[in-house]
Amino acid sequence: MKQDLISRIQALKTQKNAVILAHYYTSGEVQAIADYVGDSFYLAKVAKACSADVIVFAGVGFMGESAKILNPDKTVLMPDLTADCPMAHMVVPGRIDALRAEYPDLAVVCYINSTAALKCQSDVCVTSSNAVKIVRALENEHIFFIPDENLGRFVAEQVPEKHVILNDGFCPVHAEISLEALLAEKKAHPAAPVLSHPECRAEILAHSDFLGSTAEIIAYAKTSSADEFIICTEDGVEFRLAADNPQKRFYFCQKRPCCTDMKRNTLEKILHVLQTGENEIIVDEKTRVRALLPLERMLELARS
Ligand code: 13P
Ligand code: SF4
Repeated sequence: MKQDLISRIQALKTQKNAVILAHYYTSGEVQAIADYVGDSFYLAKVAKACSADVIVFAGVGFMGESAKILNPDKTVLMPDLTADCPMAHMVVPGRIDALRAEYPDLAVVCYINSTAALKCQSDVCVTSSNAVKIVRALENEHIFFIPDENLGRFVAEQVPEKHVILNDGFCPVHAEISLEALLAEKKAHPAAPVLSHPECRAEILAHSDFLGSTAEIIAYAKTSSADEFIICTEDGVEFRLAADNPQKRFYFCQKRPCCTDMKRNTLEKILHVLQTGENEIIVDEKTRVRALLPLERMLELARS
């Protein structure tokens, strides 16, 4: 049954010259069928470079939107249009304009986990794997970091020469990891280093041994000589961690962090959009052209 589903997806992919991109937070079976699996930065680069006619993006809304902004001539399909990132909307309207009036040299640095409308008001995008590098490279002294307060604070600590203004947004999945739960895992596995995503709250980061994006956590676990780890990020990464390191053990805090939006992507829905062409991402041209500027600036600054 599952094999039949997979065979039909493969056949349609070839027929329609389509590729499947999947974030590490999707389920293992979705990651297994994808052509490209990665963190937000890697997937944005793949979306920009790929030569397929159709991109099926197994992720959340802002990812499909960014793929379309970077590739106006390609068809971008999302397996489930209701898969949305709550944090992507978390900026109070008017706050950007108010801060631009207060600080004439302000740079609005926008985590890629944001709506196209927010990107349109921003100077540069970042992801968790390039945010420190990009903020450090900016000439501006005053930075408004949107929407994630936790990633913004992490960046501010790494780049103390800048005045980073934080915004009141957060990822509900990472913010829910509690210190109590982490301390319980540390007590149970005292030799295990703690690898955390900077979307976690400050007290989690303070008790961690390594901080990095999803891809950086996966790379760290692979090269580390430790044989067990406590992982503070979404539990979809376990699929890659286990595949790369069959002899190592990975522990997640209770209750396991799970992004229900990412998990809306299923094999059945991937097959459905490949069959029907439904769930196409449409971005109006005015929005696309403006939102492209901070995305391209990110790609350029991350390269240099
Ligand atoms: P990265 O893909 O940059 O690690 O971000 C994690 C995330 O929350 C994506 O939604
Ligand atoms: Fe958004 Fe958090 Fe889910 Fe990522 S894990 S899509 S930041 S809610």
